Amino acid sequence: MNRTRRQLLAGISIAGAGALLVGCGGLRDSSSTARNDEGNNNDEDNSKDGGSTDEPAGATITATEDLMREHGILRRALLVYQESVIKLRDNAAAIPPDALEKTAQLFRAFGEEYHEKKLEEAYVFPAVKKAGGPAASYADVLILQHARGREITDYVLSVTAAEKMTWRTSADLVKALESFVRMYEHHAAIEDTVVFPAWKATMDPKQLDEIGSKFEEIEQEQFGEDGFEAAAKRIGEIEGSLGMADLGMFTAPAPPVAGK
Ligand SMILES: [Fe+2]
Ligand SMILES: [Fe+2]
Repeated sequence: MNRTRRQLLAGISIAGAGALLVGCGGLRDSSSTARNDEGNNNDEDNSKDGGSTDEPAGATITATEDLMREHGILRRALLVYQESVIKLRDNAAAIPPDALEKTAQLFRAFGEEYHEKKLEEAYVFPAVKKAGGPAASYADVLILQHARGREITDYVLSVTAAEKMTWRTSADLVKALESFVRMYEHHAAIEDTVVFPAWKATMDPKQLDEIGSKFEEIEQEQFGEDGFEAAAKRIGEIEGSLGMADLGMFTAPAPPVAGK
């Protein structure tokens, strides 16, 4: 049975708020709107996530695509950290602590408690380790990095709970954020290019389809809604609050003329 995202979601209760909402208040309204759209099987909405019952089969989101787009949310959180580091170096008051706190809460709920713990550590890494080969050797260090990431997120949450940051706190926070970004950029890149393809290769199309449905069930259990859409909206709000919503502002300047 080729169960698409929307088919699955349509059959699951939408009651209750998930951990993402607990950690990142304010997502619930937007996501309940999205959920209503799901229930209405709205054509316009279908075109976005490819989940309608009459869509082409190629539009179905596979488990590996799901994992990779979750990395997209986490990379946007890393970019918030990275840009904050640049500003905090000049001025400890340049970034409101609550913007970083919200980013850390999102990383905790969507990245650490869901993507890492419920998907990668429960399904992806065990299968890759069992299969052996080059990807298997990454599993242990990836798990170790998950644990270190959680320690750093604990630290960021504790520091940013304060209303203001001192120079001393800010300097330590900058170091912690830089090391977190450096670790996680490499971590996610290895998962995207080595580990996820190796995991996909352990399954036939039917198994891949079944695990995709399983992941959707887990997402519903965890968040009580479409966690990806809620997380995407949340990180967009954080970016907006920090003046980072315009992608164009990140376009690199033209390079110097060679030879001059
Ligand atoms: Fe990971
Ligand atoms: Fe990951």
